[in-house]
Amino acid sequence: MKVLVVGGGGREHTIVWKLAQSESVDKIYCAPGNAGIGQIAECVPIKATDVEGVVKFAEENKIDLTVVAPDDPLVLGMVDALEEKGIRAFGPRKNAAIIEGSKVFSKKLMKKYGIPTAHYEVFDSAEKALEYVKSAPLPTVIKAEGLALGKGVIIAKTEEEAEKAIRDMMEDKVFGNAGNRVVIEEFLTGPEISVLAFTDGKTMRPMVSAQDHKRAYDNDEGLNTGGMGTFSPSRIYDEKMAEECMNNIFLPTMKAMNSEGRTFKGVLYFGLMATKDGVKVIEYNCRFGDPETQVVLPRLQGDLFEIFNAVIDERLDEVEYSWREGGCVCVVAASGGYPVKYDKGYEITGIEDAEALGDVTVFHAGTAMKDGKLVTAGGRVLGVTAVAGSLDDAIKKAYEGIEKVSFEKMHYRKDIGIKKYN
Ligand code: AMP
Ligand code: GLY
Repeated sequence: MKVLVVGGGGREHTIVWKLAQSESVDKIYCAPGNAGIGQIAECVPIKATDVEGVVKFAEENKIDLTVVAPDDPLVLGMVDALEEKGIRAFGPRKNAAIIEGSKVFSKKLMKKYGIPTAHYEVFDSAEKALEYVKSAPLPTVIKAEGLALGKGVIIAKTEEEAEKAIRDMMEDKVFGNAGNRVVIEEFLTGPEISVLAFTDGKTMRPMVSAQDHKRAYDNDEGLNTGGMGTFSPSRIYDEKMAEECMNNIFLPTMKAMNSEGRTFKGVLYFGLMATKDGVKVIEYNCRFGDPETQVVLPRLQGDLFEIFNAVIDERLDEVEYSWREGGCVCVVAASGGYPVKYDKGYEITGIEDAEALGDVTVFHAGTAMKDGKLVTAGGRVLGVTAVAGSLDDAIKKAYEGIEKVSFEKMHYRKDIGIKKYN
């Protein structure tokens, strides 16, 4: 079978790596991929958002399955466009991807179906939003409605910060049309948990839990990033909480989407917060998380290609797979200065030494080949990932691994997975 994976970051490297282990998969293409993906798949220079280009490539190369991994092509309707040409595609259709594409949609959905989330108001004019924040309790959370590269959420501690966020989003359009409407919501507190789930609209099968570290520096200091590291499982997500989430959040979300005529087939990502009033939804994503995928898929004991096909054919309840016990940790090696200003093009060394430790896999995010050398090509460069019999051993191993890797101005957090919650 020939598979095409759309995307080119650490998440896609992990998906390609896992698909390559399937006996049914003979050849993998990746659009556009990166240098690490290029070692196990054929990278094709088509942008992940180029719907026409991807459809044309899949048609011409008789691709058996196309996996659309990132949010923007899903929200643009890439899966619909592929299906229209009779090409099998994994991922939600446009009318279901809206669960991530519009925060106004997802908040209304949760309200309508009684799914626990923060209280909120929607504004389509800056004037009304500015008036509202004058009396809103602080901190207050301001979210651009649409996709904003993970940067569209501002936690305003003062009225001035709230005003600035509203003006930036609604008047200065720093996120383009994504800021035409804003959601202003209640500030919640508690540890965060990410749960990714396979669903075909009939069956909901959550994967093992994970936790992301969004801030750039240790102790959650510095700016928000695309994710500086992840670990699986979460230290607080026990069976009781999993059951609570299944009954109050996961199944009700699947049923709500069905009732709306927007059946969701693919990976549904639940961004959760364990508040003192129970678990609440912070956000939905319509896809695998990055870098959560890097710590979840290495624990999957089963055939990802088979699972993708079962989701498409609505027989997810029939596939057999399990999850490896113990833990998995991914520490991101970023370019110095990320997420603000950083240089690219530095040579990367030591990946083989890290992987030679055993149970360590280095997933590439922003890398490229230049004059026969592996060089940095993005803010987040690598995700050094380790599996072990326990979370603490996985942490140790991932750090042993990352110490072998180097490039100029490399930066990584030293506390991934360490924080313990009472
Ligand atoms: P999002 O892009 O929706 O994942 O939001 C980014 C981050 O903002 C989340 O991971 C949370 O840490 C934080 N956040 C979002 N909504 C809230 C909220 N209502 N209360 C507290 N923190 C929030
Ligand atoms: N790790 C968060 C996300 O994928 O959006």
